[in-house]
Amino acid sequence: MAYKFFEVENDNHVRIIQINRPDALNALNAELLSELAALIIECQRDKSVRAVVLTGTEKVFAAGADIKDMHDKGFVDIVESDFFRPAIEAIENLEKPLIAAVSGYALGGGCELAMMCDFIICSESAQFGQPEINLGVMAGIGGTQRLTKFVGKSKSMEMHLTGRFMNAEEAERSGLVSRIVPTSELRQEVVEVAGKIAEKSSLSVRYIKESVNRSYETGLSEGLRFERKSFHSLFGTDDKEEGMTAFIEKRKPHFRNQ
Ligand code: CAA
Repeated sequence: MAYKFFEVENDNHVRIIQINRPDALNALNAELLSELAALIIECQRDKSVRAVVLTGTEKVFAAGADIKDMHDKGFVDIVESDFFRPAIEAIENLEKPLIAAVSGYALGGGCELAMMCDFIICSESAQFGQPEINLGVMAGIGGTQRLTKFVGKSKSMEMHLTGRFMNAEEAERSGLVSRIVPTSELRQEVVEVAGKIAEKSSLSVRYIKESVNRSYETGLSEGLRFERKSFHSLFGTDDKEEGMTAFIEKRKPHFRNQ
């Protein structure tokens, strides 16, 4: 299926979703977000997809929500349209790993979209920011919550209150991104990382994702209990048998996701 704002490609079991709205620096309008929701739902449904990469162009991941679209909206319009919701829900419901490959600007809703992914790998040119304050508003799809969890209160507060951008080095130092790679190698590198994850047992992948995410939502003892139950339940799978047998037989495991 052809999409207006996205290029979609498959690399074995990895689906690569590239935001492609260059004239508006990949700004997120309602139509784009609705396409993104459909794409993510399809990734969840399609059994051949085991990991997903979300990326933009070399210049921009996404420069935020579409300011021109929001310009004429008042309180009631924004509440009633809530045009981010379907994409947010689709991402929240995705049980497969979603990796953001960020080059250039990831601002406002763009930064928030990257932070909704399971982890971020960025290029040397990446710039992260929550500049909504300059528009007389504030972050609205997770920025004040997720950025604070990633980089701590002080830095998050400063970024939200001043609108300043954070470069790739600062983002890595602060724990916002897992690592930085050269701009020309970003896409290939992230697809390779996703490919490695796609080779693992999809049951382990799913449970690990759920368990790590749980650490953001619960206290330690509840999180540990959740992790222990997930760990124990993986002992009921053929993939556990295969993984441990392969180790003992000094060969590569062949997981069948069973
Ligand atoms: N919405 C709509 N259009 C945008 C846009 C956005 N968020 N960001 C850039 N564009 C458009 C520009 O209007 C311009 O269009 P025209 O050529 O038709 O004038 C085109 O993209 C190129 O942009 P610039 O000329 O500004 O490019 P630049 O290289 O000089 O600057 C930039 C790049 C620093 C990213 C600058 O474009 C910018 O500051 N963009 C806005 C960033 C922002 O404020 N994002 C937050 C949006 S609100 C939000 O996201 C709310 C939320 O939490 C959900």
